[in-house]
Amino acid sequence: MVSLRSLAGLVPLAYAASLQEITTDFGPNPTNVTFYLYVPDAPAAHAPLLVYPHWCHGSGLDAYNNKPWARLADELGYLVIYPSSPWTADHCWDLSSSDTLTHDAGGDSLGIASMVRWTLREYDVDPDRVFVTGVSSGGMMTNVLLGSYPELFAAGSAFAGVPAGCYAGDGYAVWNADCAEGRVTHTSAEWLASLKAMSPGYNGPRPKVQLFHGDADEIVNVVNYHEEIKLWSAALKTGSEPKKVTEDTPQAGWTKSTYGSKGLLEGFLAAGVTHNIPDQVDEVVRFFELDCVGKSCFSRKTLKALQGGCKGKRC
Ligand SMILES: *[C@@H]1O[C@H](CO)[C@@H](O)[C@H](O)[C@H]1NC(C)=O
Repeated sequence: MVSLRSLAGLVPLAYAASLQEITTDFGPNPTNVTFYLYVPDAPAAHAPLLVYPHWCHGSGLDAYNNKPWARLADELGYLVIYPSSPWTADHCWDLSSSDTLTHDAGGDSLGIASMVRWTLREYDVDPDRVFVTGVSSGGMMTNVLLGSYPELFAAGSAFAGVPAGCYAGDGYAVWNADCAEGRVTHTSAEWLASLKAMSPGYNGPRPKVQLFHGDADEIVNVVNYHEEIKLWSAALKTGSEPKKVTEDTPQAGWTKSTYGSKGLLEGFLAAGVTHNIPDQVDEVVRFFELDCVGKSCFSRKTLKALQGGCKGKRC
C-alpha cells in the first residue's frame, strides 16, 4: 500500500502512523496550502480517496477531529486528505481569485489538486474514485474543485455552499458578501459558460454532484442552493426540473430532489435548517459508494459510460 518513500517518513511516528502532516514538496502550491493525510490501518486495495476542505475558522486538524470521516475510513478503507487554508485572517478558502477559478493556474485549488496528484502517485489509490465534500467554505471549495479540476474527481457533495465561480472577486480568499447573501444570480447558460471557462478545453465527463442546504441559512443564503442546481443541472445535462421529489428524506422536513435519470445530480433542501446544517454521512457514503468493494463500484469509468465517452486530452 505505502510506497517506500512514504514508509520512510512513517516509521518514527509509530504511535500515530495513520495521520501524517505531509511536509514534503508535493507539487505546485503557490498559496502554501498545507495538509494532513489520513491512511487507515487497513486501507482497501486501490482505495478511494476523499478530500475534506474545512469550514472558515477551521483547519485540517479540526476537520479530522470533529467530523466522522477518519473514523469511517477505519471501517471502509479509504484515505482522507485534510487541507488547511493558508489565509490567517479567517481561515476561509480562496474561492475568489482567477487563479483558483482556473485549471492549473494557481490559488488554493491548485495546492489541493497537487495533494490529490501526489497521493495518487505515492499510495495505492484508485484515480477514478476521488471524491470531495465539505460544509460552508468547504462546500464552496467543493464546487470550485469540481469546476477547476473536473478530470480529478468522480463526485462532490457540497453542504451550505455556493456555485463554482460565485465568489469570483478581486484577489485571493476575498469574502464575497453579494454571493453569500444571495445577490449573485445567473441563468443556467451563464453559469455553464463560466464553468467551462474554469477548465478550458476540457471535454471529459463532469463529476456528479450532491447538494445540501438549509432554507433558513443566515450566512450562505439558500438562493445559492438554487443557483448551484442551475449550474450543475446544466453541466450534467439533467434538465433543470427534478425528475423525482421525495419529502422527509433523509429526515423530517428535508426534501430530496433527483435530477435526470442517471443519478448525476441530487439536492436536499432542509426546511428550517440554518447554516449549522447537520452532517448526512449515510447519504454521502451512498452517493460516493464509499462502502463499495470491487470493479462495479461507482467511479469516473461510470461517469464516462453515462456521459458518452471522452473526447478531450485531460479525461
Ligand atoms: C509561500 O511560501 C513561500 C516560501 O516560504 C513564499 O516565498 C511565498 O511568498 C508564499 N506565498 C504566499 C502566497 O504566501
